[in-house]
Amino acid sequence: MTLKALMLGCAAAAMATVAFADEDAVLSIEGETMVTQAAAPAHMENVDTVYSGWTFRTPETQALQLDDFDNPAFVFVDQALELYETADGTAGKSCMDCHANVADFAGLKTSLPRVEDGELVTMTNLVNECRTERMGAEPWKYSGGQMSAMTALLAHQSRGMPMDVTIDGDAAPFWEKGKELYYTRVGQLDMSCSNCHEDNYGVMIRADHLSQGQINGFPTYRLKNAKINTTHGRFKGCMKNIRATPFKEGSPEFKALELYVASRSTGLSVESPSVRN
Ligand code: HEC
Ligand code: HEC
Repeated sequence: MTLKALMLGCAAAAMATVAFADEDAVLSIEGETMVTQAAAPAHMENVDTVYSGWTFRTPETQALQLDDFDNPAFVFVDQALELYETADGTAGKSCMDCHANVADFAGLKTSLPRVEDGELVTMTNLVNECRTERMGAEPWKYSGGQMSAMTALLAHQSRGMPMDVTIDGDAAPFWEKGKELYYTRVGQLDMSCSNCHEDNYGVMIRADHLSQGQINGFPTYRLKNAKINTTHGRFKGCMKNIRATPFKEGSPEFKALELYVASRSTGLSVESPSVRN
């Protein structure tokens, strides 16, 4: 049996019982309750409710996100705070020299990616722009350890705020491109993102519980590789799993896909840094 047949078989068998570990489980972190399910935005034609990926995890994995002391991602957030305070580059400046209070980045993650001067920019692009243009420092690798940690620190400042990217105006062509990518079948298994994350969320696939593939929790700590994982890193992994040649992290394709997927997360709380398996 091919992998695809196996997957579709599993999906069909489980279809009747779209199962959540506990649909009413509440994600409350440090006294703040996250929105983990919300009415889907109008542009999503085939889905009524959007769910955070947290909803689909086992109680053990869910528990790691309830308390920042238990959440393994915070080791990396702390490392990023050190980087934030450390001068780098020919200008001899640290992030902190210009952005005195990291909490001022609250709200940024909810609105990214966004269009600037006709280009779609991600948080990673913004950080590297400061490094190369304002610090005289080398850019960090797109999904490298330093960048993943730094974007986790910055995204964390928006925790609890609803995702709310702009998809009209000059963002529209990027959003359309991302949507097209989301629904295009690729790879040896000839599958699209939607085949799993829209048609089959809630079902078990090879012992993993399929979510809607939302990105409100990114960057996310994964138990599988014990590090911070970026949005584009995750997209890449999903493309590899269907035996497709993935786009490059930071590529125009993945940035457009990120905008589209972020728009599907509209209304869900930013959970960064979340914990997944
Ligand atoms: C063969 C099924 C399959 C396909 C096709 C697929 N994925 Fe996934 N994806 C998974 C599985 C399994 C997981 C891990 C469990 C989960 O969160 O759904 C996952 C996880 C994710 C996550 C992490 C969600 C979270 O809350 O942490 C994102 C984001 C994601 N996928 C996006 C995509 C995108 C974008 C595409 C298309 C390029 C895609 N996936 C294609 C199976 C798939
Ligand atoms: C020499 C001063 C300077 C340094 C050093 C600097 N930045 Fe910036 N940064 C700016 C300016 C100016 C802007 C554009 C105006 C603004 O949004 O504050 C900006 C914008 C940003 C933005 C976009 C903010 C938004 O709301 O649009 C991010 C994210 C950012 N910087 C992160 C960093 C990080 C992380 C570092 C350290 C790696 C850093 N910056 C270092 C001056 C600096």
